Amino acid sequence: MQENILVLGAGGQIGTELVETLRKKYSSARVVASDIKEEPAKTLLGEPFEVIDAMDRDRLEEIVAKYKITQVYHLVAMLSATAEKMPRKGWDLNMETLFHVLEMAREGKINKVFWPSSIAVFGPDTPRQNTPQHTVMNPTTVYGISKLSGELWCAYYHEKYGVDVRSLRYPGLISYKTLPGGGTTDYAVDIFHQAKARGQYECFLAEDTTLPMMYMPDAIKATIGIMEAPSEQVKIRTSYNLAALSFDPRTLAKAIQEHLPEFRINYVPDYRQAIARNWPGSIDDSAARTDWGWKPAFSLKDMVREMLANV
Ligand code: SER
Repeated sequence: MQENILVLGAGGQIGTELVETLRKKYSSARVVASDIKEEPAKTLLGEPFEVIDAMDRDRLEEIVAKYKITQVYHLVAMLSATAEKMPRKGWDLNMETLFHVLEMAREGKINKVFWPSSIAVFGPDTPRQNTPQHTVMNPTTVYGISKLSGELWCAYYHEKYGVDVRSLRYPGLISYKTLPGGGTTDYAVDIFHQAKARGQYECFLAEDTTLPMMYMPDAIKATIGIMEAPSEQVKIRTSYNLAALSFDPRTLAKAIQEHLPEFRINYVPDYRQAIARNWPGSIDDSAARTDWGWKPAFSLKDMVREMLANV
C-alpha cells in the first residue's frame, strides 16, 4: 500500500530530522511536514508543508483528507521544564492533540500512528539503574504524567479499537540541526553550542546527574524502525524503553575537553535539577531489542565528535 505521511510538529528537534529521513526513504511528495508556525520550518524543510495547530481537529481532518494521509507522526508536545511552568496548558496540549489523532485512527481516517513517550514517565519510586520496561512509574512532572497517561490511552485504543499506534520512550536527544526547547535534558545540546562559541558553559544540572541520552540519528532509526516493524512484532502498545548512552554533565564535559582542552564548565543547578533527580540514570531496552530488533549505533565518543564538527 502506498503510504502518505503527515508529521505534526515537524519544525521541532525530532521533526526536522525525521522529515528529512522520511523524504529520502519515501518520495518527498508523500511526506507532509506541518507545524504551528510557518517559519522557520517551511524554509528549512520545503514542500509539502502545511500550518497546523494540532489542537484544531477540523484543520487536522482537512489536511489528512487533502493529502490522503495514511500515517501520522505526532511530535507535538510541551516538554518537561516548560510544562512545569504552565501545568494545565501542558496537559491540555499534550493530551488533546493525542486524542485527536487516536480518534481519527479509530474512525479509520488514518491507519498508523507514531506518538513519542519519554523517560519522564518514570519517577522517584522507579529503580534508577537499568530501569525495566515494566516497573513502578509514579511520574512527578506534568510532562511525565501526560506521557504516562498518553501511553495508557494508546494501549487502550489498540486493545479496544485495534488502532495501530506505536511509541518509544525517548531518552534525552542530542542533535545539531534544530535546538530542543523547554526540556530538562537540553543541557546536553546547549553545552556544544557554548563550548564552540564561548569555550565555557554554565550547566543548569549538577555535575553528577546521570541521565539516559541518545544521538539523534539513533532516535530517527528507532522511530522508523518501530513504524516499519510488522505489527505482530510490536507487542508493547504502551511505549518501549529505548536506550543508547548514559552520562552526567561532568563526563560529557570531559569528552568535549578531549577535543577542546580549554573548555570550562561550572554548575549552577536550577529547578530543572529537581526534575532530573527523579528520572532514571540508565534504561533497560531489551524488549525493543528482542521484539523488533532495535540496536543503537553511536557511542558517546562518536556523538561528541560529530556534534563538535557540526554545531
Ligand atoms: N527530553 C525531554 C525533556 O527533557 C524528556 O523527554 O523534557
